[in-house]
Amino acid sequence: MKPEPICKVDDIPQNSACGFEAISNEVPTNVVIVNWKNELFAYRNSCPHTGVTLEWIQNRFFNGDNTFLQCSTHGALFRPDDGFCIAGPCTGKSLEKLPITIMKKSVYLK
Ligand code: FES
Repeated sequence: MKPEPICKVDDIPQNSACGFEAISNEVPTNVVIVNWKNELFAYRNSCPHTGVTLEWIQNRFFNGDNTFLQCSTHGALFRPDDGFCIAGPCTGKSLEKLPITIMKKSVYLK
């Protein structure tokens, strides 16, 4: 079966993030795609604290000054470029990074 792209590169403006449903290892998965300084990163959209999805409202993953991803439930802050939690109840843990590949300006899970 031909893999489906998660999104187009142009769907994610610089220093923002969008949530998608995708298939990872044949399992439906909530994914957040982050464009940080014009580099794309993908994480499982699941807070290491309780497993809830992160966003405040649809596609709103960043904190107020757009410097960290922030969990809407208890406020944990995650670095956009590696998913490491620098503050909050899961400090020292990380979002699960998902490998992606880009072909013809579309983003795919590897
Ligand atoms: S559920 Fe994310 S910080 Fe508690």
